[in-house]
Amino acid sequence: MSSEKIVTLRVNGDEVKLIAPAHRTLLEALRHVGYVEVKCGCEKGDCGACAVLLDDMAVDSCLTLAWQAEGREVTTIKGIGTPADPDPLQEAFIETGGAQCGYCTPGMIIAARELLNENPNPTLDDIKKGLSGNLCRCTGYTRIFEAVSLAAQEMQKVGETA
Ligand code: FES
Ligand code: FES
Repeated sequence: MSSEKIVTLRVNGDEVKLIAPAHRTLLEALRHVGYVEVKCGCEKGDCGACAVLLDDMAVDSCLTLAWQAEGREVTTIKGIGTPADPDPLQEAFIETGGAQCGYCTPGMIIAARELLNENPNPTLDDIKKGLSGNLCRCTGYTRIFEAVSLAAQEMQKVGETA
């Protein structure tokens, strides 16, 4: 009997069907249908480059099987914000130079989005802890941490004036 299975989920608000044999990871299935903004790094849960939001939780899509996303909402970096309507985190990464070579940036922003959703006013230690599952091979973490802090401050200002 074939183990191939079709799963239906939502990606960035759109209904998507993925071919999901039992062994296929969410990372492989998403990239196979064009969501190449989900980056492939270590494929073993070490680098966080492949992070997506699964419902509200940041997960490593290389450690998540595609069938486990059945019926759920997946958000990639393109669902966080667009060039025309960027998320404060995306603006802050540009402002601070936090996107260096940029390879880790989608995963960093996904992790940071989960952090700010849970804790809108994080300390530097909170930010370091929140991004501890994400590695940057450019090794310049200072600007990345600054970007998350700046985004939090900007979001607070918007909240105060709303
Ligand atoms: S590619 Fe998934 S954690 Fe590295
Ligand atoms: S910005 Fe280059 S790997 Fe992080």
